[in-house]
Amino acid sequence: MSTDCLQALHRVRQWLQDAHHIAMLTGAGVSAESGVPTFRDAQTGLWAHFRPEDLATVEAFRRNPPHVWAWYAERRTQMRDVLPNAGHRAVADFQRRHPGRLTLATQNVDGLHQRAGSPGVLALHGNIFEDQWLEPCALARRAQDGCTVEQAEAGQPPRCGQCGNLVRPAVVWFGEMLPAAALAEAEQAAGRCDVMLVVGTSGAVYPAAGLAHLARARGARVVIVNPHPSELDDVADEVLAGPSAKLLPQLLEF
Ligand code: OAD
Repeated sequence: MSTDCLQALHRVRQWLQDAHHIAMLTGAGVSAESGVPTFRDAQTGLWAHFRPEDLATVEAFRRNPPHVWAWYAERRTQMRDVLPNAGHRAVADFQRRHPGRLTLATQNVDGLHQRAGSPGVLALHGNIFEDQWLEPCALARRAQDGCTVEQAEAGQPPRCGQCGNLVRPAVVWFGEMLPAAALAEAEQAAGRCDVMLVVGTSGAVYPAAGLAHLARARGARVVIVNPHPSELDDVADEVLAGPSAKLLPQLLEF
């Protein structure tokens, strides 16, 4: 690591040590070293091989439920086999040592922060391992409380045994609202933090990326951890260029 990088690392570590409250936003890059593909990395990102409009919108699911269901089923299988990495663990360990000092919001649906032991993770884009009913009808809402999902034919998404609703993964698709309570809590944390850590995200997707702008506007220091340039670099007080599994332990071990 160059002298400049080391100095930047020490500077950020000092900001974190001085901070009463830290807000953190993570994206796919934080799970890259666990073996989960990102979305926008040029060769390895999912959106380099698939079109989001064919897979990550409610219109795509309505057009071709088996296709979208099968893609998410495969991603669920891949994600079940991966483990939290040193970056996830460094955050969870920090939260254990400093209860209430760091609010963690993630765009990731892989559950790795939760599996590492982070409490109260604000899952802004949902959870790939959970199901949700396609139609938000009253019967569906009641049914979700105690209903069983019918066994589906091979390749088909299951249906609710009571209302017949199609079951979809509980992730936020393009054009959909984020879970309101989680977003509100993340905005509150960004608005009152002293330091905002933005880790492993391209910063291309809003409203999540807006958290960094909000923190900056309220006077917090914004720090990016990412081996490549991101769309939020202009907002940052410091950009630490490197992988999160290496840098987060160095930043948060105090
Ligand atoms: P992206 O794929 O857009 O960005 C991943 C970022 O991680 C890139 O900036 C990489 O440079 C960086 N990265 C790669 N390896 C890393 C490492 N080892 N350590 C740290 N950073 C690394 O993923 P997101 O920003 O999370 O939404 O994407 C945001 C949303 O867009 C996702 O939640 C998903 C996607 O479409 C939906 O599916 C609705």
